[in-house]
Amino acid sequence: MIDTKVDLPGLQLKNPVMPASGCFGFGREFAQFYDLSHLGAIMIKAATATKRFGNATPRVAETASGMLNAIGLQNPGVDAIIGEELAFLEPYQTPIVANVAGSTMEDYQEVAAKLGNSTVSALELNISCPNVKEGGVQFGVDPELAYTVTKLVKEASAKPVYVKLSPNVADIVTMAKAAEEAGADGLSMINTLTGMRIDPSTRKPIIANQTGGLSGPAIKPVAIRMIHQVYQAVDLPIIGMGGIETTDDIIEYLLAGASAVAVGSANFKNPYICKELIDQLPDALSAHQFSSVKEVIGGAHYQTTST
Ligand SMILES: Cc1cc2nc3c(=O)[nH]c(=O)nc-3n(C[C@H](O)[C@H](O)[C@H](O)COP(=O)(O)O)c2cc1C
Repeated sequence: MIDTKVDLPGLQLKNPVMPASGCFGFGREFAQFYDLSHLGAIMIKAATATKRFGNATPRVAETASGMLNAIGLQNPGVDAIIGEELAFLEPYQTPIVANVAGSTMEDYQEVAAKLGNSTVSALELNISCPNVKEGGVQFGVDPELAYTVTKLVKEASAKPVYVKLSPNVADIVTMAKAAEEAGADGLSMINTLTGMRIDPSTRKPIIANQTGGLSGPAIKPVAIRMIHQVYQAVDLPIIGMGGIETTDDIIEYLLAGASAVAVGSANFKNPYICKELIDQLPDALSAHQFSSVKEVIGGAHYQTTST
């Protein structure tokens, strides 16, 4: 019997697999395909203080082994999310992680305070969205701003806070340490890498926002490298994400140092992907001679080298 349970701050996970924020909406569409109670947790779409329409279209483009998106944090606003979306999700036996976003420090505080009084199990602090011009993205690339916004959000809410790191920095460890010093309970990493595509026939960027965030299998090696670095430098649990499509991908993330994983873009290709990975994980762990998820975590750091 393979033990797939993982306990993280605020999150008692029956398995380590959850959909990533922005790639599962608020679960309504996916609930038509399978019972959401199968999921280890659900990371819901970003919440901002007021409703956002998001960026102009086109806002997605295909790339080799991935996709670009510049949705721009489209969401109905935190009050509607609490009143309607969380109410819809409440009957499911799975913890909900709310994604907190904004343009100013005050926005983050307001959203965190409101979600702090809701049924969510934890907050994911999105300081890493590359697709909104104002605020948020700057907080994710400047360690002092990341420290301040994390501290303010911790003060505004008693829920555990997972700071979502941006890969669009030269030194990921400095950002992780800033979050840790500010009192973060965990990290989630990584968000998308800023990219661009140009259409040869129009000679213009394909995405109306010009740049977008690259996700999918193309970014997995970047995420694995960053998680491996951060695992050695800070003492916080990590939820890993970026290009996960198979159970071996999950094992790779766990070995690098993630304690759980989130599946993003793959949900758009196969809406059953999270459930399939959860169903397949025990056999995959067993095939690699593991008897629990816990014993895989950080495994790549403990191997002895033969002389
Ligand atoms: C269409 C789309 C929308 C996203 N929206 C959000 C969001 O609202 N908040 C957030 O923190 N991350 C958002 N992300 C980033 C994902 O949660 C994830 O970090 C990233 O896509 C890497 O995982 P993947 O390669 O499995 O997609 C979004 C990604 C995509 C593709």
